[in-house]
Amino acid sequence: MSEMTEPINDFEPRITAFVCNWCTYTGADMAGTSRMHMASNVRIIRLPCTGRIDALFIIKAFERGADGVIVSGCHPADCHYTAGNYHARRRFIVFRELLGFMGVDLGRVTFSWVSAGEGAKWRDVVNETVERIRELGPFDAYHDLALRQAAGAASGTSLDVPDVVAPVVAEAGDAS
Ligand code: FES
Repeated sequence: MSEMTEPINDFEPRITAFVCNWCTYTGADMAGTSRMHMASNVRIIRLPCTGRIDALFIIKAFERGADGVIVSGCHPADCHYTAGNYHARRRFIVFRELLGFMGVDLGRVTFSWVSAGEGAKWRDVVNETVERIRELGPFDAYHDLALRQAAGAASGTSLDVPDVVAPVVAEAGDAS
């Protein structure tokens, strides 16, 4: 699905990063302690391993206000749980279809491998992601959904489903 293509000059992207504890988290820490210059738009959520990543984490991050998401862990063959990152990579192939179906531009999701010694690579992943999301603009569709859910819960009324998730809701209805 195409989205806004005009950059918004005063827009500061909010990025949520799901990173594994053993490699990328330490690499991000190294970037910080080495005082590397990078965008401050990223909020990190530490997972034990990228094998823990779930499509719902990504969707929830967008719903809670993220404009972009990064998933990053140990390089292939370096996972501390042997194969968690391979599971994550396979899962991401499925996520891509699901996210595209749900109206999320795949340019909003970055998947990378960053080791504990690659602070400079983490800096580059962050800066490139922030610039790409800045070009795409804010991801308002899911933010509106969260606001409508909150308003509906407060008033006791049902959720007015926005166009972006209507196909998913309709499909779920057909299956029952
Ligand atoms: Fe880092 Fe599995 S422990 S990806």
